[in-house]
Amino acid sequence: MFSMEMLNKPVFATSFVLVFILCLCAESLATIKKSTYIVHVAKSEMPSIFNHHSIWYNSIMKSICNSAEMLYTYDKAIQGFSARLTDEEAELLRSRGEIVKVAEEKIYKPLTTRTAHFLGLDKMAAMFPKSIAGSDIIIGVLDTGVWPESKSLADNGLGPIPSKWKGKCESGQNFTASNCNKKLIGARYFLKGYEATTGPIDTTKQFRSARDADGHGTHTTSTAAGSAVEGANLFGYASGTARGMATGARVAMYKVCWGDNCAVSDILAGIDAAISDNVHVISASLGGQAVDYDDDNLAIGAFAATVKGIVVSCAAGNSGPLPSSAQNVAPWIITVGAGTIDRDFPTIVNLGNGQNYSGVSINDAKFAPVTSVPFIYAENAGVIESAKFCIETTLDPKKVKGKIVLCDRGGGVSRVGKGLVVKSAGGVGMVLANLEEHGEELMADAHVLPAAAVGFKEAKAIKLYLQSAKNATATLAFQGTKIGIEPSPVVAAFSSRGPNPITPEILKPDLIAPGVNILAAYTKFVAPTSLDEDDRRVDFNIISGTSMACPHVSGIAALIKSVYPNWSPAAIRSALITTAYTSYENGRTLLDSATGSPSTPLAFGAGHVNPVAALNPGLIYDLTPNDYLNFLCALNYTAKRIQVVARRQFNCEAHKHYTVTDLNYPSFSVVFKRIAAAITVKHTRTLTNVGNAGTYKSSVSLDSPSVNITIEPNALSFKKNEKKSYTITFTTSKPPPPSHFAFGYLEWSNGENVVKSPISITWGSGHP
Ligand SMILES: *[C@@H]1O[C@H](CO)[C@@H](O)[C@H](O)[C@H]1NC(C)=O
Ligand SMILES: *[C@@H]1O[C@H](CO)[C@@H](O)[C@H](O)[C@H]1NC(C)=O
Ligand SMILES: *[C@@H]1O[C@H](CO)[C@@H](O)[C@H](O)[C@H]1NC(C)=O
Ligand SMILES: *[C@@H]1O[C@H](CO)[C@@H](O)[C@H](O)[C@H]1NC(C)=O
Ligand SMILES: *[C@@H]1O[C@H](CO)[C@@H](O)[C@H](O)[C@H]1NC(C)=O
Repeated sequence: MFSMEMLNKPVFATSFVLVFILCLCAESLATIKKSTYIVHVAKSEMPSIFNHHSIWYNSIMKSICNSAEMLYTYDKAIQGFSARLTDEEAELLRSRGEIVKVAEEKIYKPLTTRTAHFLGLDKMAAMFPKSIAGSDIIIGVLDTGVWPESKSLADNGLGPIPSKWKGKCESGQNFTASNCNKKLIGARYFLKGYEATTGPIDTTKQFRSARDADGHGTHTTSTAAGSAVEGANLFGYASGTARGMATGARVAMYKVCWGDNCAVSDILAGIDAAISDNVHVISASLGGQAVDYDDDNLAIGAFAATVKGIVVSCAAGNSGPLPSSAQNVAPWIITVGAGTIDRDFPTIVNLGNGQNYSGVSINDAKFAPVTSVPFIYAENAGVIESAKFCIETTLDPKKVKGKIVLCDRGGGVSRVGKGLVVKSAGGVGMVLANLEEHGEELMADAHVLPAAAVGFKEAKAIKLYLQSAKNATATLAFQGTKIGIEPSPVVAAFSSRGPNPITPEILKPDLIAPGVNILAAYTKFVAPTSLDEDDRRVDFNIISGTSMACPHVSGIAALIKSVYPNWSPAAIRSALITTAYTSYENGRTLLDSATGSPSTPLAFGAGHVNPVAALNPGLIYDLTPNDYLNFLCALNYTAKRIQVVARRQFNCEAHKHYTVTDLNYPSFSVVFKRIAAAITVKHTRTLTNVGNAGTYKSSVSLDSPSVNITIEPNALSFKKNEKKSYTITFTTSKPPPPSHFAFGYLEWSNGENVVKSPISITWGSGHP
């Protein structure tokens, strides 16, 4: 380390020294692998001789190794840069005083389940008066790119591009500045990080531009802010008017995902640009396993955006129903889980014995009907044992030809991939069987052959028939699109769950939104199944995931922002949370697809988004950027860790008592650390009146006698715009319920507005 520093100084000395430096670097290159690192720098320590941070960052790099390659210089999302470095070089940087953190590159994933379809957008959007379509609001989408010719991105009727817009429409492969318009006002792409890690993109499968070769980005963009398109459908299914949540808002694509890979160095570059460009909302339908906030560069970039007043809405992840699987859980992010909508695509599996089982499917009208054909379980049609998963080359064409094949989900093959395997082996139809973990949740995929997805219970019964019947047969009867499905919404089994894996005292996800079988615009570059072997191309596709739920909330946040331009991101989130609904019209709690039983705040957070109510929340729980930094103080973050997130020095006061329970969050997650003793946990909150003057009274409900809850004061009188605080005290002296969980709600009501917060209580560490 010492000798490197020495060698770097006399750059102009003798040729001997120069050669030696080059050798050292070259040797590192040849023998030691370089990786991408994200380097956070204390910009405030920049010596005055540098007149721009990028020059300083370059000189820092050069001091480590002349050949080190800079990928990006950041200024808005983080202060610092990303670079290709050897482990030794990264270590050298870590030892320098002005370096706050050197983090390794990470790859995040788009959060679609690659399967279903649906159209619930019109139902929600139709409730908005046209006047608040959000015309000057700009949503920045971090995703796989966009298909600019999509009708959903037409700019009919939109006024001039907002004057505050500073972004651009970057040309590239099959993309020019003229691909943007008054709806799609910006399009940029970031791939240095991706290419540094995986090598150059294949420009026959990807576009070196913001053009979408995947479909995910076009889908999320049009869900958030797509213009209304009449007659949208997929193979005749889900036919109707497709529209985004904020039809009048503008969108900008920041393409940071290449196929299924979104490198954090590229994500940061996208956020950096989005902040500079003056977007109002960032929609990020991507994620990775939750980590500490100062290790989570997406969360760090999101914090910088929040400081600028930008709302950041992210997908909660598709790792449900596993507990503690929520992603993007930083308390400054809106974390969105997924629910079903009231539309379905029923398909009847009519067995040879006359029995009927219901499933779902998107059937291409050009497929031949599948009537009374032989039916076989893949397990009995394979060349190996695990053939039940319909993995490539495992099915015996002699046993499959002309038949319907029942395949189990799982085994590392996508749902649509199984259809292709069956078809390639000569099968004429497929029944796709849920395993126990998938429950009864069905995703409608545009399979390459006639197919029906069936739930776990149906699958069990069908398998019994296949076992006992001598010559099993089946008919697949497609019923088209059915609306008015009840109950809906139901929490998606795949939607990631709490407790919050990082800070159990903050409830995550925040809320759910439509994310199962969602119809929205798609790329024309790949098939609706994404399979190379599928040559169909569609204008709209039906897919599922918390990826689809996130842009619903991003679009609704844009609408709220257009009505209340001065509201902070926390105020907007509070409005969404305290107006969400948790029960059906009959009063029963929203169900969970994974269990078929009533769900809880650990799965749906505050409940399902209610866009119209969110425009008139009555009271809000507001937060400032400093409140989040105080929260990090409460987590005992060191000054350096806080600096990574804050992009500046922020000192926790030595004698101040910080507590996580004081973060003015609109929901309550209580952790009783010990089980036996009498314990009291207090949360303090401050409400801001954004409605009329009046008196609000509190009421509280809980599904367990193990905890007493008191509110002090239990009535609050507000003038207009006034702030009032209260304390909620949770006391337990009794044994916890057997589940070690209790759930309930706190409501503040003035007789007109109900400001509702979910309460989730756990005993123990807070982790399962
Ligand atoms: C991209 O541009 C090339 C060259 O103009 C053209 O041949 C090709 O069809 C375009 N691809 C798409 C998907 O538009
Ligand atoms: C089963 O479904 C078929 C096809 O829709 C229908 O014709 C038949 O009546 C159904 N049978 C029963 C027992 O419901
Ligand atoms: C099953 O199919 C075979 C071959 O087509 C036929 O010989 C046999 O009679 C059938 N058995 C029943 C119970 O229908
Ligand atoms: C932070 O440190 C204080 C004092 O050591 C301790 O009481 C508290 O439990 C710690 N908080 C967390 C979240 O670790
Ligand atoms: C709740 O309060 C009542 C009355 O003060 C008391 O009798 C009861 O034991 C308390 N329950 C718990 C769980 O602390």
